[in-house]
Amino acid sequence: MNALCCRRFVVAIDGPAGAGKSTVAKLLARHLGWLHIDTGAMYRAVALKALRMKVPLDDEGALATIASSVRIEFSNSPDGIQRVLLDGEDVTEAIRTPDVDEAVSVVSAHSAVRRIMQGLQRKLVEGVHAIAEGRDMQTVVFPDAELKIFLTASLEERAKRRWLELKSRGYDVTLEEELKRTEERDRLDATRVDSPLAMASDAVVIDTTHMTPQEVVEHIIALIAQRLRRHGD
Ligand code: DC
Repeated sequence: MNALCCRRFVVAIDGPAGAGKSTVAKLLARHLGWLHIDTGAMYRAVALKALRMKVPLDDEGALATIASSVRIEFSNSPDGIQRVLLDGEDVTEAIRTPDVDEAVSVVSAHSAVRRIMQGLQRKLVEGVHAIAEGRDMQTVVFPDAELKIFLTASLEERAKRRWLELKSRGYDVTLEEELKRTEERDRLDATRVDSPLAMASDAVVIDTTHMTPQEVVEHIIALIAQRLRRHGD
């Protein structure tokens, strides 16, 4: 699968919070040896820096200044886990706190921040094969992606996944609270003016409510193989 016909092959994965995008993108990228672009992590890194600098989250200019000056890198650690570096600091865990969860929906709604992040994302895939994951991958950032996948799952299942993840990391949150937070994040992602969560008309929809991550990955690998055959590879 690595010997490709084309100069690049981008799989654009979109979907709401908790649909399994990150888990699936991570596994896929590892299996194929392709770059994994976790665009949510990029917005989270900007939100973390803004929180640390105590920048008001409605100050679009100040947030854009942060976005254009931060250095965000993805690096593979020896255990195969992709780490997120913010100005050289490993923030992989720091960007996954409930505080950042809340701030990032607001930060990522600012157009000036989005333009800068979207430019960075397009640069990252130049000439490489990549799994790009986020909310606007197939409609805004990579409308020409070779494969578009829209992952979804029921609200209850998505909140439960996030709740279990937070609990396993020692956070004292209730499922009820996480359900409310997920609903609110859905609302903000879907109703923001700039690049709301949207599905491309040629996307393949996969409902992951009753699927394991491995099953989803196998399904997507079959789709990639099919597209490559169509490319004449
Ligand atoms: O996927 P995630 O939970 O890590 O995303 C964090 C936030 O960033 C979420 O509020 C949606 C937003 N986001 C976005 O607006 N555009 C993207 N391409 C990726 C994430």
